Amino acid sequence: MKNIAVVVLAAGEGTRMKSELPKVLHEVCGKPMISWVLESVQGLKPRDIFVVVGHKSQVVRENISGDGISFIEQKKQLGSGHALMQVEKRLSGWHGSILVLCADTPLIKADTLAALLKFHCGEDNAATVLSVTNENPFGYGRIVRSPLGQVEKIVEEKDASPDVRRIKEINSGIYCFESPAVWGTLKKIKPENIKREYYLTDALDILNSLGKKTGAFLIKDAGEVLGVNSRAELAVAEKVKRAEILERLMVSGVTIVDPRNTYISVDARIGRDSIIYPGTIVEGKSEIGSGCRIGPFTFVSDSELGNGVEARSAYIYGSKVGDGAKIGPFTHIRPGTVIKTNVRVGNFSEVKNSVLDEGSKVNHLSYIGDATLGKKVNVGAGTITCNYDGFKKHRTVIGDRSFIGSNVNLVAPVTVGRDVVIGAGSTITEDIPSKSLAIARARQVNKKRKIVISVSHKG
Ligand code: UD1
Ligand code: CA
Repeated sequence: MKNIAVVVLAAGEGTRMKSELPKVLHEVCGKPMISWVLESVQGLKPRDIFVVVGHKSQVVRENISGDGISFIEQKKQLGSGHALMQVEKRLSGWHGSILVLCADTPLIKADTLAALLKFHCGEDNAATVLSVTNENPFGYGRIVRSPLGQVEKIVEEKDASPDVRRIKEINSGIYCFESPAVWGTLKKIKPENIKREYYLTDALDILNSLGKKTGAFLIKDAGEVLGVNSRAELAVAEKVKRAEILERLMVSGVTIVDPRNTYISVDARIGRDSIIYPGTIVEGKSEIGSGCRIGPFTFVSDSELGNGVEARSAYIYGSKVGDGAKIGPFTHIRPGTVIKTNVRVGNFSEVKNSVLDEGSKVNHLSYIGDATLGKKVNVGAGTITCNYDGFKKHRTVIGDRSFIGSNVNLVAPVTVGRDVVIGAGSTITEDIPSKSLAIARARQVNKKRKIVISVSHKG
């Protein structure tokens, strides 16, 4: 294949999104829609990827990255044709094919782009548009063909006559052009349309009138070129992408009990024979081992879970959970937590920035923050670490096999040795040496009650 350069148009505001956030940064399955487009083009190994930015360009620049990407400003958003004109200064003398895409087409696949380029080069076209037959063509530019089937021009919905509006073959917004010839063509575009914009689509009409060869590469899957202009279309893109991700996981041996109610990020990894129950969301670069049971209603974000982990109705983020651990129901595991093999953290417990070593149990209604628990520590119901004195956070350390009775307050900083037993209801403010029994509560007093019995007489 010839030299290839890619241009991604991303300068528009995306008015129809009604958003403070530039449209191209709205996320599809946890990733800005433009990043999906950039990933698809990266596979083509182009010499350059130019992203034309304009509306809130600083925010767009800050939120996308990748190999070989450079940004070009379009100071005023005068239309898609004007957007491509901004790239001339970077490619004017260069000979090769330019693949132009809109940043709002997140479902496009690398294979389709490669096929488009191959077709374009094979046909020796001056311009090729990627088109598709869409049963609901509303809002898209229509491909107008001659009686012999040659592509004549593209007409935008707003500028189309009722006859043209009936055409179902639409412009995907993805094209191939030839440099340097395209730069002269773009200069001939005039903003003579309802929106008073320089339409890139007019380039085909101009090339045809110059006797140059143009064509359309018609693909089958209309879904792949869905243009996201509104929140409703964003939800459609999300649904398609989500189904693709779940399909890939199921093929690799993961059970997804109800794919309609499961949300897994594209960067997440899940091992074989894990079962994901409904209402589960896995975000970011999370890793879940094999043979796990996750959900129902569990949220895992940027965390690593080992093999055979159970997590039900749990929130786990920025943490590690070891093999065989059982988390939940109703458990909050906050960032910086390391839970080791066969640990149990259950019912209404919260753990933050703590290490729980092998076989320890925090089963009911506890708060463990900034703590290090040894192996096989048992934390009784209602126990909390008092880690914050109003100014600083302090650590609690508990040695192996210690037994913390119910409703104990561990006022940090405090160190509890190994094989310690703490009586229920104690408030521990001092370190406890290993192999001791600590009780820190007022002794029970039983006193005689004085009971006055009042008798009421009637009449
Ligand atoms: C565009 C096409 C339409 C096609 C549809 C496919 C034109 C005139 N129309 O319509 O034929 O069917 O895409 O989804 O191109 N942009 C800039 N600078 C500008 C204006 C737009 O960079 O001044 C960028 C936008 O950020 C967007 C892309 O160009 O990524 C397309 O703009 P948009 O307004 O979404 O065009 P559509 O009306 O969808
Ligand atoms: Ca669009």
